[in-house]
Amino acid sequence: TKIHQFLQDLPKCEHHVHLEGCLTPELMFTLAARNGVSLPDTEKRPEFSSPATLYERYEHFTSLDDFLSYYFIGMSVLQQQGDFEALAWEYFQKAHADGVHHAEVFFDPQEHLNRGVAFDTVVSGFVAGCRRAEQEYGMTTKLIMCFVKHLPASDAQKVFDLAVEAGHFESGALHGIGASSSEVGPPKDMFKEIYATAYSKGIRRTAHAGEEGDPSYIRAALEAYKSQRIDHGIRLIDSPSLLQQVAKDEILLTVCPVSNVKLRCFDHISKVPIRTFLDAGVRFSINSDDPAYFGGFILHNYCSVQEAFDLSIAEWRTIAENSINGSWVEQERKSELL
Ligand code: HPA
Ligand code: ZN
Repeated sequence: TKIHQFLQDLPKCEHHVHLEGCLTPELMFTLAARNGVSLPDTEKRPEFSSPATLYERYEHFTSLDDFLSYYFIGMSVLQQQGDFEALAWEYFQKAHADGVHHAEVFFDPQEHLNRGVAFDTVVSGFVAGCRRAEQEYGMTTKLIMCFVKHLPASDAQKVFDLAVEAGHFESGALHGIGASSSEVGPPKDMFKEIYATAYSKGIRRTAHAGEEGDPSYIRAALEAYKSQRIDHGIRLIDSPSLLQQVAKDEILLTVCPVSNVKLRCFDHISKVPIRTFLDAGVRFSINSDDPAYFGGFILHNYCSVQEAFDLSIAEWRTIAENSINGSWVEQERKSELL
């Protein structure tokens, strides 16, 4: 349809996609076989029998933690530099087809290091995927390293130190830090020292907050982390005062509508606070989060929002402009995209 073509053509920026969340069951099985990694015993976990049975299971996530248990098993098949590169390249091909011009992508190094994969294997593989997307598609890309909240903060500190010592932030191999994984349970400010160091070095900062957790998680990300963006942030609907502050401070929310329904944050896309955010002047981008697990990439998210909210062309232009302006990219590139 006409609106679908308009959404396809809209110059999109993606700010919230986990590269490990782009691992399709097909690639998971291929890499497991190639690398000799065993997936769970199918006697006990029949959903690991085939890509088809996994896809079926992915239709029934009950929570963020239920999803994460699959996400962390899936990524265990990633072993060699070429695996990381192939994963990133698969994502960029899909993103390009969906009309993404600029992508800032997350990855979770701690999980890979814990499995004995070298930090450099992970980073050099993902960087190679990014450079290929830049060369073949003229996309701009940025890598954001996430710390995971279910592992000790000392592990996060180690991986941050490795990245700083390798000069990855200065060289541009890495562009910022984030925090992801389980929300309710771990301390809200567990990476406070790392974020303070990042702030003092001028390293960009974002954090997942207010996905399953209440607005106090968002306040902690803004205050304890001096986070410049909030990933998800949907529970802002429970704090009108914080919502006003986020609007006034022009903090970009990276919203993932399909993810929110798949992980039962809302029972339908129409409950995602798109209208509330637009009316309150809260800036947000629309993103895919873990597209291989949630059944669709960024354009599917744009189209699902359109079906539920019937936005005007002007509103879509506002969303596209806010996501360009909220990107961590040079002004010259923003001007090109606008
Ligand atoms: N929330 C928290 N951590 C994550 C997510 C998410 O939606 N996806 C991958 N890691
Ligand atoms: Zn996420």
